[in-house]
Parts: sequence; C-alpha cells; structure tokens
Amino acid sequence: MNKVSDILSFFLKELKGCYTENEIRSMFYISIEHILNYSKSDTIISSNVELKEDLKISFIEIVERLLKREPIQYIMMETTFYGLSFFSRRGVLIPRSETEELVDWIIKDNESSEKRYLDIGTGSACIIVSLAKNLQGSFYGIDVSPNALREAKQNIIRNNVDVILDKVDILISDLSGNWDIIVSNPPYVLESEKKYMKKNVLNWEPEIALFVEDSDPLIFYRIIAEQATKVLNKNGILYFEINESFGQKTIDMLDKKGFVNIELKKDINDKDRMVKAIWK
Ligand SMILES: C[S@@+](CC[C@H](N)C(=O)[O-])C[C@H]1O[C@@H](n2cnc3c(N)ncnc32)[C@H](O)[C@@H]1O
Repeated sequence: MNKVSDILSFFLKELKGCYTENEIRSMFYISIEHILNYSKSDTIISSNVELKEDLKISFIEIVERLLKREPIQYIMMETTFYGLSFFSRRGVLIPRSETEELVDWIIKDNESSEKRYLDIGTGSACIIVSLAKNLQGSFYGIDVSPNALREAKQNIIRNNVDVILDKVDILISDLSGNWDIIVSNPPYVLESEKKYMKKNVLNWEPEIALFVEDSDPLIFYRIIAEQATKVLNKNGILYFEINESFGQKTIDMLDKKGFVNIELKKDINDKDRMVKAIWK
C-alpha cells in the first residue's frame, strides 16, 4: 500500500468474507474522510498521491479493528445523524437511520410553535440534539447510563444546543414536570433475538441500550406511557420507536391507557417502526 489508490484494494482484499463489497466501500470512504479529510471526488483526484508511513499504519489499524467486527463509528469515534455530527464511543448505542425517520416525523409535526420536549433513554442525545437544532422550545434528555450521559453532554456541546440532562431510571422513578412532547427509543430487542444479530452489534454495543426480557417486551413502553398520562399537557404527543413485531400490541396498550389518534408508521424498509399517540 503506497498510494491513495492502493487503500481501497487493501480494504477489499483484507475484509472480503467479513463484510459485503458495499459495506467495505462505505467503510473505506468513511476512513479516508476521517484520516485524509478527502471527499469521494478528492479520493479519485488524489489517487496517485504517495501515502506517508504513519498514514499507512492508520489504515492498517482500522482494518485490524474492522476484522474484529468493531463498528466503524466506534473506530472513528464519531458518526453523522440527521446531518449533524456526534461523538460515538463504546458504551453508548450508535445512532440508527430508523431513528432519523422518527426525528424527521417529530420535526415536521412540531415546526409551528415552542414546546417542551423530553427524550427518555437519550443515549448519545442524537434525538434531542436534532430536535433542539431544528425546533423552538426547551429540551431535556434522561438516561440511566453514566456512559450515555457523559457522551450526551459532549454531543450537546459539540452541536451548540441547550439541552438539560438528568440521570433517571425510568423503570423505578416517577417523571415530573409538564411536557408537550415525550419521545423515546427505549431498549426493544428481545433476548431471544440475540441469535439473529450481527457480531458488530452483539459484541460491541451496550446490552443496556438494546435488550428486554422476552417475558415483558413492552415494559419500557407501558411504564413510559403510564407516566406520560400524568405529565403530558393536554394535546401532548408521545412518540416511540418500536420493535417491528410489536406495532399492534403497542397501539392496544396506548389505546387502553386513553391515548387517542394513535398512528403506526413504517420505516424505509417497510417495517412497523414508529408510533405516535395524543393525550387529550
Ligand atoms: C435504544 S437506546 C436509544 C439511545 C438513543 N436515544 C438513540 O435513539 O440512539 C436506549 C437507551 O435507553 C437507556 N436506558 C436503558 N434502561 C433505562 C432505564 N431504566 N431508564 C432510563 N434509560 C434507560 C439506555 O442507556 C440507552 O441509552
């Protein structure tokens, strides 16, 4: 590996068998942007540029970590979400594209007035930071994980928004305050679904952010909805990201609690992924 043009062949050769060609190309472009600050077109234009020794070592190290299935976002220590830049380190869930769709729904619904927003299980703060960047109002995020809260704080500073954070275990604490919008993307992967998951998620991302017991898959949704009935303002809205298998069960649960105008929305992959419900 001597020139910029050699890096892609190095990635393709070393990572073949571990990832698809599309995944390798995408990880190559992320790496090249991170290490050399090159866009895709810079990479083509600079294909004959000689690589210095320390840069070669950086690319070799990235490939070694990818071979261990470490997510590229953790290797780069950053990711993009809803057009914004976020720190992304082990111990905190990597923001997902499905969640961008949820954020987009909330933003389009709430552009017209100032509101009070609460994000439960804020993680990296990708949801609440994106809302704060695009909407008027006041913004709060809570999480039980000290790792998440540390990273959330750094992401709030990185994106220059006002978001207040608090350490709260939603399963045992009562919410206070009055909110116009409550949003949550809580843990929703069943323990029994572990066997279908890729190693880059299973071995690297935090269990606390992902899994719920098979015996009570809606635990977070039920508890959050119950608490929301006490702290949502009239016409307040509850938004959830959900496990694709539990759309109807989530609707039934919200209906029983007295929420109205309940909507289920599919993600770009045609999976039931988001729910919205209004508190009258
Ligand atoms: C699926 S992740 C979502 C993270 C982020 N909101 C996102 O969309 O990328 C779920 C989050 O809920 C948090 N969490 C898990 N159990 C919790 C609890 N009992 N109380 C509060 N937060 C909890 C996890 O630490 C994690 O950050």
